[in-house]
Amino acid sequence: MSNRVDLPLPPLEYRGWVSPITVDSYYDNPSGDYVWGPLDLGLLAPGEAYRRILDFGCGCGREIRRLLMQKDPPKEIVGLDVNRRMIDWCTHNLARPGVSFIHHDVWSRWYAPDNSRNRVLPLASAGSDFSLIEANSVFTHLLEDQTVYYLEQMSSMLAPAGLIRATWFFINKKAFPMMSDSQNTVLIDEEDPTKAVFYDWEFFVRTTRRLGYRIVKVEWALNLGLHNTVFLGRDDTFAELLITTPPGTSCLGF
Ligand SMILES: C[S@@+](CC[C@H](N)C(=O)[O-])C[C@H]1O[C@@H](n2cnc3c(N)ncnc32)[C@H](O)[C@@H]1O
Repeated sequence: MSNRVDLPLPPLEYRGWVSPITVDSYYDNPSGDYVWGPLDLGLLAPGEAYRRILDFGCGCGREIRRLLMQKDPPKEIVGLDVNRRMIDWCTHNLARPGVSFIHHDVWSRWYAPDNSRNRVLPLASAGSDFSLIEANSVFTHLLEDQTVYYLEQMSSMLAPAGLIRATWFFINKKAFPMMSDSQNTVLIDEEDPTKAVFYDWEFFVRTTRRLGYRIVKVEWALNLGLHNTVFLGRDDTFAELLITTPPGTSCLGF
């Protein structure tokens, strides 16, 4: 049984800002199991990756609420987001010893139109030694320079055997012959280019390697063009995944 059934649920308005899925069950963890499984990758013992977590783009605390309901909850969690109202809600409703929230004053047309016009800001105030940095459906809304900046920041914030778990939209650039060497993303919305950002898979592999990461595990999208989950680590105790072509049922253009 979960140990924190008393945690409040975010208002429906906020839930609608972060996902079309707004049902209570998307915010719950009734079994109290590890939210993303035991994550016993490399030499990590089951559950060890959950010790100290940064939830980058935590929104209204969906993942943090579920983490707090684990039978073996994390020792420390930091949630960070650009949306001030959701961060305020999280601070008032989910903060407790070991769980804190940070407003990140970076501008976003949809998520943070009232923020300062910063394109990126350092993440240092969030801390370091994270055993897990989580970013669910966040890099899917960041442009190329922002993504590279934040991946670079995160590399010095991870514990030695720390992992980044993040979701991505991928394409095969070869299916878009007009894309030049320097063009690596496909955008779907003219008014808000961050509505959905698709990254070229080869660019992703090259960039993460250049930044010193290993691709440890990929959970390919079950439906073509949707979220792929990638685990990145820096430690050489993680075996690097032999890069294979994404299945044609997961990524556009393969
Ligand atoms: C689709 S929502 C996902 C929210 C949460 N991760 C979840 O799974 O419920 C994307 C989140 O990323 C946040 N975000 C957008 N740009 C950001 C940035 N530059 N830094 C941090 N968070 C950002 C948004 O405010 C929003 O809460």
